[in-house]
Amino acid sequence: MGDSGRRAAVSWRERFAASRAVRLAVLGACALAIANLAGPERPLDVERRIEALLAQMTLEEKFGQLQQLSGSRPEYLELARRGLLGSTLNARGAATLNELQHAAVDGSRLKIPLLFAFDVIHGYRTVFPIPLGEAASWDPAAAERSAAIAAAEAKAVGLHWTFAPMVDIARDARWGRIAEGAGEDPFLGAAMARARVRGFQGDDYSQPDRVIACAKHWVAYGAAEAGRDYNTTDLSERTLRTVYLPPFKAAVDAGVGTFMSAFNDLNGVPTSGNPFTLTQVLRKEWGFDGVVVSDHESVLELIPHGFAADEADAARQALPAGVDMEMVSRTYATHGPRLVKEGKLAVSAVDEAVRRVLRIKLRAGIFETPYADPARERATLLKPEFREAAREIAARSMVLLKNDRGVLPLPASIVRLAVIGPLADDRRNMMGNWTGDGRKEDVVTVLEGVKAAVSARTQVAHAAGAVVDVKLLAEPEAPDDPAARALLDKALGAARAADAVVLVIGESGGMSGEASSRTSLDLPGRQLELAQKVIATGKPVAVVLMNGRPLSIGWLAAHAPAILEAWFPGTEAGHAVADVLFGKVNPGGKLPVTFPRTVGQVPIYYNYKNTGRPPNEKDNYTSRYLDVHWTPLYPFGHGLSYTEFRLSNLRLGATPISATGTLDVSVDVTNVGQRQGDEVVQLYLQDVVASVTRPVQELKGFQRVAVKPGETRRVAYRVGPQDLGFYDREMKWVVEPGEFRVRVSNSSVGGLTGSFEVR
Ligand code: BGC
Repeated sequence: MGDSGRRAAVSWRERFAASRAVRLAVLGACALAIANLAGPERPLDVERRIEALLAQMTLEEKFGQLQQLSGSRPEYLELARRGLLGSTLNARGAATLNELQHAAVDGSRLKIPLLFAFDVIHGYRTVFPIPLGEAASWDPAAAERSAAIAAAEAKAVGLHWTFAPMVDIARDARWGRIAEGAGEDPFLGAAMARARVRGFQGDDYSQPDRVIACAKHWVAYGAAEAGRDYNTTDLSERTLRTVYLPPFKAAVDAGVGTFMSAFNDLNGVPTSGNPFTLTQVLRKEWGFDGVVVSDHESVLELIPHGFAADEADAARQALPAGVDMEMVSRTYATHGPRLVKEGKLAVSAVDEAVRRVLRIKLRAGIFETPYADPARERATLLKPEFREAAREIAARSMVLLKNDRGVLPLPASIVRLAVIGPLADDRRNMMGNWTGDGRKEDVVTVLEGVKAAVSARTQVAHAAGAVVDVKLLAEPEAPDDPAARALLDKALGAARAADAVVLVIGESGGMSGEASSRTSLDLPGRQLELAQKVIATGKPVAVVLMNGRPLSIGWLAAHAPAILEAWFPGTEAGHAVADVLFGKVNPGGKLPVTFPRTVGQVPIYYNYKNTGRPPNEKDNYTSRYLDVHWTPLYPFGHGLSYTEFRLSNLRLGATPISATGTLDVSVDVTNVGQRQGDEVVQLYLQDVVASVTRPVQELKGFQRVAVKPGETRRVAYRVGPQDLGFYDREMKWVVEPGEFRVRVSNSSVGGLTGSFEVR
């Protein structure tokens, strides 16, 4: 080829390149126009818009979408303008969020809006009971309602995404985060998970009063060894699938938009770098197509786990394992582009993660409605009907553990009432942990609630008696500490002068939740001594407990006339407690978690295995303790009422049934007392002999029913293969032939029993 020929070839190539650039630019502009078209999202449109955006993104912008940062620092405005930020957590309020959003939408090349996340766990401004408390309502409709209200408030301040529900099963009361979940049982946990996802998201999380939910923490975080937060978990795949996965699966089935990978190491592979749980189970088996966000720096923490050598290695492992978005740490953004260029990270894996993030942004409608409206914020927060719902749900969550001699309900006409205890008038602690934007000035304390409920002639005295916010690691106070003595004496004086005492004791709000594990389940500080002395006055004493975990309250169980478990009830705490104390509401909650006699029994749960030597009073060489009875203090499912219920007429449908068949079970529940009340009728099953050992019982059905005095209601269940099956030795789900026992009851102990056969 001569010179002229070479020149011609070059110029042809240049012309081609130039025209290709023009074509690409035109295509890009069209794609961008399509991508930013407003309008309702059909799935095809969403997918087209995703591809149109992806086609134009630089590698750095792709990793930008995968970055979530905390708060609202000035640096983030710059990152948003450069397309290097996908989401924030903890930034709040219309003004702050709109400033960030303008930087992304008006300032960035591709105008992709930011996704704003926050931990809206049990309410945003109107605070509901802690999730463990709400689970004690055994009322998924109540949980759905409170999540819906939390979503409406959160959306009104510009948030799109909540890091809830936490659906971790917890069998260890030492673990502080037991407060954030639904307790120890996978069946109840799954029901609550479904309800909360529905409540947060509705049918469509782009609606003005809904947010994207997040099932966390994936997975088995609640099995932390020794109940110590963030600790290692090591469990069989069977236990994982049988106990820990069902609430997550229920969340997926309910359409949850996102998952959060956890902090813990699971069987040697940290869950934020675990392809088996993140990809095999979640995506391939369950078909989840939403986003997985890491927990707070959990990608970076692959280094101290001893799983990643450095930051780049952490990113190289976490992203292809299935963590799409990185919370707070920046290993993806810092090292991702280089890893791709060096061939250490497949761009296809990055593109998939970006697609998922863009998909939830498009589905959430934030391209169309990126900004928050401050007027909406003012009009929505803490509406009277939200407070009313908080009061009702808090009262529905309370569990009457004990009520001797009918101490409760108290007559509203009582003349002298003493409201004692460090939590009685404590505005802050009644909301518990993770309180969103809950403000203590909004809280009704128990003292206030009681005063509002009693008659005009009732005199209400108050004394704290002890402190609840004690330093758990501090040296115990000297018994003769004069300040403590004065507090106690004042309370005893009030108790002696009263006709009845309400004693409000428990934990501080911060003693449960994240990083709040305890080795003792006792009442902190000198509260037990306070209770002992107040009860020794001989007055009728109703103990109201506020706590985020089961407590070992053996002494109270033996000596207090009445105990009401109120958990942390939230904004309307005082009204709700008073509603129950004075009988406006008849308590109907049940324990979603076993109360041990002592911390030494932990982990203790109702669905245990029988062992080869089931515990036996008369035989030492059985599975029991020398010093404490093996049974719990209060079993799972326990809860009393001001009325009395009787179960009768347990009926089972035609049996035997086939392995794919169903069985109808029904029972009559009669209110044989004097007051209207709710009973939670529970159904438990046991597969008596199987190819792998099965628990002595498993909850497979429950209904909370309201029954009038003298009324009988029939409660019906249908038991099917999903209730009868288990994972066999090959980890296949099977229903094996043989005998099954069924028990219908008002707790995990007692009730009516029957049996049937599967053939
Ligand atoms: C917690 C998560 C929470 C996240 C963001 C973490 O420390 O484990 O539950 O969603 O912080 O606040």
